[in-house]
Amino acid sequence: MSKVFLNPIIVAIDKNSETEAYQLSKELIGNIGAIKLGLEYFDTFGPDGIKKIQSLGIPIFLDLKIHDIPQTVKKTIDTLSSLRPAILNIHALGGKNMMEYALKSISKKSPETYLIAVTILTSLDDNDLQIMGINIPIKNLVSNLAKLAKESGLSGVVCSSQEIKMVRDICGKNFKIIVPGIRPNGSDKNDQKRTMTPKEAISLGADHLVIGRPITESNDPKNAVIEIINSIK
Ligand code: C5P
Repeated sequence: MSKVFLNPIIVAIDKNSETEAYQLSKELIGNIGAIKLGLEYFDTFGPDGIKKIQSLGIPIFLDLKIHDIPQTVKKTIDTLSSLRPAILNIHALGGKNMMEYALKSISKKSPETYLIAVTILTSLDDNDLQIMGINIPIKNLVSNLAKLAKESGLSGVVCSSQEIKMVRDICGKNFKIIVPGIRPNGSDKNDQKRTMTPKEAISLGADHLVIGRPITESNDPKNAVIEIINSIK
């Protein structure tokens, strides 16, 4: 699978039907950069489910957010790398050693895969961190973790739209920034609180936009994608 995909739209297929995921991916091919498949899909359909979508010839973002001790992460990635995902992610909070072990495995087994770090889940806020005894503002922690991911040799991070500019300034132009919580003008926010339009996120420096429901729940998903692409041209 090619390491570079130029179209920035990654569609989050949050479906627990393999047939639906396949049909939707098939419909969108040619107009999107990649398909994101996460834990709920992987836990149900496993590696074969991933291969089925890949058989369409579309890059896959395998969103498993791996987080464990370095050796276990390495062994997990040794196995997962046979799937040759375009993007695979791990938690930066696993630490530098864990990220380096992960990178060592992916570089050997699937060098074309982008290994990406999740910084702090956007479902957490400053209050959640304080309860855990982490007494620094979330933004500072995201900044530290993005730097650590870069130092560990990772290709980039997943972060919220609020952090795009900060991460870009800190980590430079070759560091991939992948952003969820994107909503085209006028579309339903669903459960997302802090959203940004595709155009805003791209102009702040995002490389890839993870977009789910505005596309997958549209009456015409293909047209929804085309409208998003036109909005960022
Ligand atoms: O439907 P929607 O566009 O909100 O989907 C966004 C996707 O990005 C979902 O798969 C969600 O799990 C994921 N995501 C997110 N926020 C994060 C990390 C991932 O919305 N911080």
